[in-house]
Amino acid sequence: MTQTTPQTVRLADYQPFTHLIQKVDLTFTLSPSATKVKARLALAPNPARPGHHALKLDGEGLRLLSCTVDGVDVAPKLSPTGLTLAARLLPKRPFILETVVEIAPEANTALTGLYMSRGMYCTQCEAEGFRRITFYPDRPDVMSRFKVRIESKLPILLSNGNPVRRGKASAVWSDPWPKPSYLFALVAGDLVSHSAKYTTKSGREVVLNIWVRRGDEDRCAYAMDSLIRSMRWDEEVYGREYDLNVFNIVAVDDFNMGAMENKGLNIFNSRYVLASPETATDEDFARIEAIIAHEYFHNWTGNRITCRDWFQLCLKEGLTVFRDQQFSGDMRSAAVRRIEDVMTLRARQFREDAGPLAHPVRPDSFVEINNFYTATVYEKGAEVIGMLKRLVGDDAYTRALDLYFDRHDGDAATIEDWLKVFEDATGRDLSQFKYWYTEAGTPKLHVTDHFADGVYTLTFEQENPATPGQPEKHPKVLPIAVGLLNPNGDEVVPTTVLEMTEARQSFRFEGLAAHPIPSILRGFSAAVVLDRDTPAAERAFLLAHDTDPFNRWEAGRALAKDVMRRMVTDAAEPAADWLDALAHLALDDTLDPAYRALALRLPGEDDMAQTLHGAGHVPDPDRIHAARRKMGDALAARLGPRLPRLIDDLADVGPFTPDAKAAGRRALRVAALGLLSRLDGGAAAEAAYAKANNMTEEIGALSALLDVGKGAAQLDLFQARWSADRNVMDKWFSLQIAHAAPADAARVTATLTDTAAFDWKNPNRFRSVIGALSANHAGFHHLSGASYRLVADWLLRLDPLNPQTAARVSTAFETWHRYDTTRQQIAKAELQRILAAPKLSRDLQEMIERMLGAA
Ligand code: PHE
Ligand code: ZN
Repeated sequence: MTQTTPQTVRLADYQPFTHLIQKVDLTFTLSPSATKVKARLALAPNPARPGHHALKLDGEGLRLLSCTVDGVDVAPKLSPTGLTLAARLLPKRPFILETVVEIAPEANTALTGLYMSRGMYCTQCEAEGFRRITFYPDRPDVMSRFKVRIESKLPILLSNGNPVRRGKASAVWSDPWPKPSYLFALVAGDLVSHSAKYTTKSGREVVLNIWVRRGDEDRCAYAMDSLIRSMRWDEEVYGREYDLNVFNIVAVDDFNMGAMENKGLNIFNSRYVLASPETATDEDFARIEAIIAHEYFHNWTGNRITCRDWFQLCLKEGLTVFRDQQFSGDMRSAAVRRIEDVMTLRARQFREDAGPLAHPVRPDSFVEINNFYTATVYEKGAEVIGMLKRLVGDDAYTRALDLYFDRHDGDAATIEDWLKVFEDATGRDLSQFKYWYTEAGTPKLHVTDHFADGVYTLTFEQENPATPGQPEKHPKVLPIAVGLLNPNGDEVVPTTVLEMTEARQSFRFEGLAAHPIPSILRGFSAAVVLDRDTPAAERAFLLAHDTDPFNRWEAGRALAKDVMRRMVTDAAEPAADWLDALAHLALDDTLDPAYRALALRLPGEDDMAQTLHGAGHVPDPDRIHAARRKMGDALAARLGPRLPRLIDDLADVGPFTPDAKAAGRRALRVAALGLLSRLDGGAAAEAAYAKANNMTEEIGALSALLDVGKGAAQLDLFQARWSADRNVMDKWFSLQIAHAAPADAARVTATLTDTAAFDWKNPNRFRSVIGALSANHAGFHHLSGASYRLVADWLLRLDPLNPQTAARVSTAFETWHRYDTTRQQIAKAELQRILAAPKLSRDLQEMIERMLGAA
C-alpha cells in the first residue's frame, strides 16, 4: 500500500489569506541545473484576517539560499510543502520579504513549474506550479502586480505584461494587471516569431507574436488569423478589449495540457498552434481555432476576473468553453458545431458522470486539483451556462454578463457571485438552478405523450441518479425546447422552451388538428439523457422533416443506435429503413456536406457500451465492434455504385483552404472513401493516398486502408516522409492503434512502444500511443486483459516522472464497472496492482482510489 494519506481540501474550509501582496519583484538567473530565483514580496497584514498571523508560503522542491524580512536575515521553518515564518518574526505593518531559491529546470520531468523543453525554458503554473518556482501563497485569491527580470544569454526572454527594458543578457517585464500566481509565465529560448499588429476598438495598438522554433515560422498563419478573429469577436459580441501592448503566444513540444492562458503570454502545446495544409487535418485547424480563442477569451473570463479558489474552476473554464463554442459556431456552421460539441459532451462527460469519477461541476473537495480539469468542469460547465442563457433569454444574458464584468473586474470570484449577477439582472431566483453546479450525475428525462380533443400533452419525468457521495438529488431546472410537426411535415408549433422544475411535470398544447410529431430537446437544450420509446418511423420522419438541424441529426443518430443495439442484443441485421434514410440524406446535395458527413459517422463503440449499460445491459465489446463494422459494410453496399460519383463531385475546387465549407466537403469525401474501400478492397483509397496533397486526405485515405487490412506500404511512406515532424508522427502512432483489430491492439501498441521513436516522456507521444490504445474500445477491453495490463504498466512507469499525465490517462479505466465480471476482475486487479506500487503520486493515487470506489 502507499505510504501516505494525502490530505483532502474542502470548499467549506475556505479562509482568505493572512496577508496581502502589494507587489512582486522576481529575478531569474537561468541555468539548466541551477536557476536562481530571487523573490521580493511587498506584504501587508490582510484586514480580512484580523490578528497577528504567522506567514505560511507554499513551496515544493526549492533549495532556500536566503530569507530576509525588511533586510534582516530570518530563519523560517521549512517543510516539504512550504515555509513558515512565525508571527513573532513579522512586523504588524507592511514589510518586505526577500527569498532566494535554487531550482533545476532540466531535472523537472513533471512539466509544472519551470522546466525545459528541447533547450527552451518555459513554465506551467496552473494550478499549483508556482510553488515549484518560489515560496509564495500559491492560491488564486492572492493577486498582485508582478515585475520580472530574466537574466540569460538566450535571445528571446519573455514574461507577462509589457516589455520594460532589454539588456545584453537580460530583459525586464512588467504586468500592470494584478494577477494570481497561476497566471505567471516565463519563456526563454532561441525562438523566432510570426508577428502581426492589431488595433483594438478603442485604438490601442497591440503587437501580436507567435513564438516557435526556427523552421516552424511558416506554420503559424492559421493560429494568427484565429487570434485576430478572436480579438475582434470578443469586442463585438462581449464588448471586451485587450488590455496590454503586446500579446505573446509560445509553442512548446512538451506540455501536459492543450494550452495555458498566462496573462499576455499564452503557452501552447505546439500541436495546437502549428498547422499547414500538408501537416494538419481539418480537425486540427478547427481545434487550433477553438483553443486560440479559448485562451484569448480567458483574458477576461479567468484573468481579469479570476477564481477565488480552485473549487470555482468552472467559473472560468465553463464560461470560457461556452464562449469558444459560441465563437466557433459563428465562424463555422453553428449547427455542425453544436452537434460536434454534444458528441464530445456525451463521449467524455456523460461517461464520466455515469462512473466512479462523477463529481459536481463545482466539486466541494479534492485531493489533487489537477485531477479536476475534467469534462464535467469544462464541458458540462459550458452546458450549464447554455441552459442558463436559454432560460433567461439572449438579452438578459447580455445584461447579466455586462454586470458581471462591471461588478467583478479585478476580483477573485465565486459561482455565487456569478449566479447573483443573473439574479440581479433578471429578478429570477436561481437557488434551484444552482443544483446544476453542486450535484453530479446526468439526469434522465422520461417522456410520454397524449393527444385528445385537439390537446396534446407532454409529460416529463426527471430521474437524477445517485453518484459517489451523493445518494439523494434535487430535481433540476430543465429548459426543454420543443417543436411540434404535423404528419405532413409542417411545423405547427415552433420551438418553445418549456421550463421544467418539478420531478414530474406536464405541458399542454391546445388547438391542434391532429396528433403531432414532437421534436423534443431541440438544439440539445438541456444536458440530459432523453428516454422515450420512439417508433423508428417517427425517427425517420424527423430525420427527413425536422426544422431543427440538431434534432434532425439526433433522429438519425438515435435510429442508428437503435439499429446497433438490436444487432448487439438480438443479433438483428442492419435495418433496411435506416439504410434507406441514411443513404437518402448522404446523397441529398441540397444539404451541407459537413452535415451529411456527420450523419454518416456511425455511433462510437464506447458510446454504444455506455448506452447499453445505462439501459441495464452488460455491454459486450466484441459484439459492439462486430455490429458497427457490419453497419459500415451494409451502408457501403447500400450506397455502392453512387460512391465514386459522390467522391468526384466533392473534389477540391481551387487551392486548399481550411475554412468550414471546404473542410465539410473533404469530410464527406473522406467518409465516402472509407465506405468505398469496403467494396473495392482499398483500390480507390490507395489512389487517393498517392495523390493526397493535404493531411486530411492523407489520413483519410490511410485510415480507409487500415480499416480493410491494407496500408502497410503507405504507413512506411508516411513514416519516411514525416519522421522529423513530431506532431505529424503522433498521428502515425495513434492511427495504427486506432485501427488495430480488437485482438491485435495490445500487440500493435507494444511493438510501437519498442521503437526508438516512442519518446514516452513527451506527453503528446505518450497519449498518442497509450491514450490511443485506451480509445480503441474493443481493443482496450479485450478479454485477454493484455491491454489493461499494458496500460497499467505504462502508468506505473510514467507516474514517477509525470504524475499529471499519468493520472489523466488513467481515466481509461473509469468504465471498468460497466463490463462482465471477468473483465471487471482483470481491470480491478490491474488497478489494485497500481495502487500497491511503493511510491505512487498523489495524483494517480487519488484517481485509482476513486475508480476503485475506495475514496
Ligand atoms: N487553463 C488551461 C485552459 O483551459 C488548462 C490548463 C490547466 C493548462 C492546467 C495547464 C494546466 O485553458
Ligand atoms: Zn480554459
